[in-house]
Amino acid sequence: MQVCVVGSGGREHALAHVLGRHHDVVVTPGNPGIPGSVATPPEEVEADLFVIGPEAPLVAGLADRLRAAGRLVFGPGADGARLEGSKAWMKDVLVDAGVPTAAHGTFTDEVEALAFLDTMGDLFVVKTDGLAAGKGVVVTTDRAEAVDAVRTYLSGEAFGDAGRTLVIEEGLTGPELSVLAVCDGTDAVALAPAQDFKRLGDGDAGPNTGGMGAYSPVPMATDDAVDDLMDRAVRPTLAALRARGIDYRGVLYCGLMFTPTGPRVLEYNVRFGDPETQVVLPRLTSDLGILLAAAAGGDLAGTTPTCDDGAALAVVCASEGYPTAPRTGDPIDGLEEASAVDGVTVFVAGVTGDRERLVTAGGRVLAVTGQGPTVVEAQMRAYEAVSRLSWPGMQHRTDIASSSTGR
Ligand code: AMP
Ligand code: GLY
Repeated sequence: MQVCVVGSGGREHALAHVLGRHHDVVVTPGNPGIPGSVATPPEEVEADLFVIGPEAPLVAGLADRLRAAGRLVFGPGADGARLEGSKAWMKDVLVDAGVPTAAHGTFTDEVEALAFLDTMGDLFVVKTDGLAAGKGVVVTTDRAEAVDAVRTYLSGEAFGDAGRTLVIEEGLTGPELSVLAVCDGTDAVALAPAQDFKRLGDGDAGPNTGGMGAYSPVPMATDDAVDDLMDRAVRPTLAALRARGIDYRGVLYCGLMFTPTGPRVLEYNVRFGDPETQVVLPRLTSDLGILLAAAAGGDLAGTTPTCDDGAALAVVCASEGYPTAPRTGDPIDGLEEASAVDGVTVFVAGVTGDRERLVTAGGRVLAVTGQGPTVVEAQMRAYEAVSRLSWPGMQHRTDIASSSTGR
């Protein structure tokens, strides 16, 4: 098949890399570090299957436009993408579908929001309703910080219109898990679970980011736990969407938390996670293109993904100042040396320049994925490769999966 991947980040690099094992792949717009990148807009690309990576074009209806032109598309239409485009609507769907989730309220009025905030215990969670590039969530024990978030979100000062409606949630605690479910509108199959490390610093210190690393498999994510999630969350959600006339064909990314009172769905995203994709997809042993085409065609029956018995671990390397004010324009050294480490693939995201001389161009610059028979081996390989990379101000966590490996 000829497959067109839409997007330009590390997730799209991983999609293209793994689809490329069996198919011809172009990536639009891609970036100078992703082989097969083309400047042609997706509407003008000829391909048998389109895979849309990021949430913004999904929310903006790119899948609908491509489908209207007769294309086979993996990715929900604007109607389904609203799950990520509006957290308030997502919470309504979760509640309708009977999915266990954090208690919440939706607000546009400051007085009402602040009154509700004070009923929420001592861990405050404030989220923008709309898209905020992964930055619209404040989780804090500091009431003043939560109050400030409420004020700056509702006034539009922090995130423009995305924050003028906000969601306040019960603060939950526990380990988190990401499960990427491939959906055909009615049914779904889960890919290997992964854990994402959202905070900038070691020991989960510092601000929330888009994700600073990930690994798979995750010990707490037993087959039973994943089956349970599919039965109690993903399938009921697809049914609740169908009841609203929505035929959801794409990834439903479940962000879960294992709380002391059981697993809760924290959020849905309508796309593959980044950097989860960089660890989940390399472990696949079956043909990703066949799977995504079956889902896009509305019939997954008999298409079951398989993955290796080993492990994969990704370390994100970000530029100085990420996530608030990333500095760009620094030449990246050591890419070839890092890629030469056995079992390592480097997936590039925020880069520009020539393939031979990439320069930083964004916050999360690249993710280094190590694979091996165990998480420890994958971790050693990934960090050996990271040690060969450098640019001024490069930041990365040194503890991805250390709670699991003890190193
Ligand atoms: P979200 O974009 O909704 O996934 O939120 C980003 C991150 O904020 C999650 O991965 C969690 O680490 C944290 N978070 C979100 N909702 C809650 C909650 N209700 N309680 C505690 N932490 C949360
Ligand atoms: N890594 C979290 C996300 O992709 O939203």
